[in-house]
Amino acid sequence: MRRELPQVAENEILRQQEIMRLVRAMEARPQSYFIVSMGCQMNERDSETIAGMLEEMGMVASPVREEADLILYNTCCVRENAENKALGNVIWLKELKKVKPELLICVGGCMPQEKGMAERMKQLYPFIDLIYGTHNLYRLPEYLHRVLKERTPVVEVEQIDGEVVEGLPEVRKSPFHAFVNIMYGCDNFCTYCIVPYVRGRERSRAPEAILEEALMLRDQGVQEITLLGQNVNSYRGGGAEFANLLYRLDRLGIPRIRFMTSHPKDLSDELIAAYGELRHLMPHLHLPVQAGSDEILRRMNRHYDKARYMDVVERLRKARPDIGLTTDIIVGFPGETLEQFEETMALVEAVRYDSAYTFIYSPRTGTAAAKMPDDTPASVKSERIQRLIALQQGVTSEILNGMVGGRQTVLVESVSARDERSVGGRTPRAIMVNFPGDESLIGQFVDVEITSAGRNTLRGKRIEE
Ligand code: 5AD
Ligand code: SF4
Repeated sequence: MRRELPQVAENEILRQQEIMRLVRAMEARPQSYFIVSMGCQMNERDSETIAGMLEEMGMVASPVREEADLILYNTCCVRENAENKALGNVIWLKELKKVKPELLICVGGCMPQEKGMAERMKQLYPFIDLIYGTHNLYRLPEYLHRVLKERTPVVEVEQIDGEVVEGLPEVRKSPFHAFVNIMYGCDNFCTYCIVPYVRGRERSRAPEAILEEALMLRDQGVQEITLLGQNVNSYRGGGAEFANLLYRLDRLGIPRIRFMTSHPKDLSDELIAAYGELRHLMPHLHLPVQAGSDEILRRMNRHYDKARYMDVVERLRKARPDIGLTTDIIVGFPGETLEQFEETMALVEAVRYDSAYTFIYSPRTGTAAAKMPDDTPASVKSERIQRLIALQQGVTSEILNGMVGGRQTVLVESVSARDERSVGGRTPRAIMVNFPGDESLIGQFVDVEITSAGRNTLRGKRIEE
């Protein structure tokens, strides 16, 4: 399998492994680390790789941020508030460094990858020891080594999005659920979105590498995998290839398979058919619609219209009647009129999503939409999103209430944050259920009778056979 890896990547990994050994042998190196992962699941998965590399370098995870010798922010820049959150955190670290001068501060991920951002950060926040981007994550050992040897800040952001890198160490967060990258980057250039600029062009992993990873995870006892990609439907050029991968993964016998995210324009007939046929593919699909107006969709460069989207929804439901759909919606795209917003409301009413992530449009420098005139006042946008949230809340409530009295198989994830005598986990449709139980159930499938519905979650009781 390793023969198929690009030679460059393999040599590079050997070099980084050598450097990790060098750092491990250094006397004055950080002993502990704390990673703050912001943004999407891609970043969460990257953070597992970062943790793997830091541990190879001899560090251990610190349970408390303030006590760590190295703090790393894995940042997001998809909306302005994600950036502000990251910067707010970093400024706070300046204070911490005053009382703990040996602290190493690293900032990586999507934000420094933005054009001009790394240089700006370097000037504004000279106390940051290492700034790196998304394309050169695998060179983290080399950069840290330089920081430790030269004791000067290092800023390294690569503009070229290189090859898929395999074989990096990792520390997986959960023993029963795993994220599996299948592709990186995005070629869609939706006009509002910064992702293609910070995550680069689409690159797919070889199916053999994915299958090998999934097999290893299965043998380690993983019960659920979530395949990750900015647009999994264009895996290796699109068409049936993603569906083929799912068929091959389904045969491995991992109980639950999920994936995200899908672009409606690329959803193939084969994938829809797979929903009807694959035992382990869970009946849930996150299908971001973004807007319900054809004109707005056109200006967003989404390459589908409302009719096409509704047709996909209908065919999915025919193939898998119990499928639950979730979505992302942007409110207040430049020039969005009240009528156009009402079309989004009508679509939300028609589709009946289990839930929806709703965002107020946030201009991102360098994207096409950032140059479009936008004269809708912020207060109007905020009123619109409130209406949308209220509408979706009503739909969610109806769907959840319709499940009361039924039975669900829940994969238990954790002890409830609110009540330590309860545990929480997800149904096949990815709806959260809480029920009385203790931590010995974590990672297990439990049959639960649904007794009541909350705002976004269900409550139940264990069915004792
Ligand atoms: N403004 C608001 N929301 C955005 N998203 C992406 N870019 C922006 C932006 N500039 C939303 C989209 C996407 C989700 C991950 O974030 O809805 O699907
Ligand atoms: Fe994920 Fe996009 Fe945010 Fe990067 S910018 S962390 S790819 S959501």
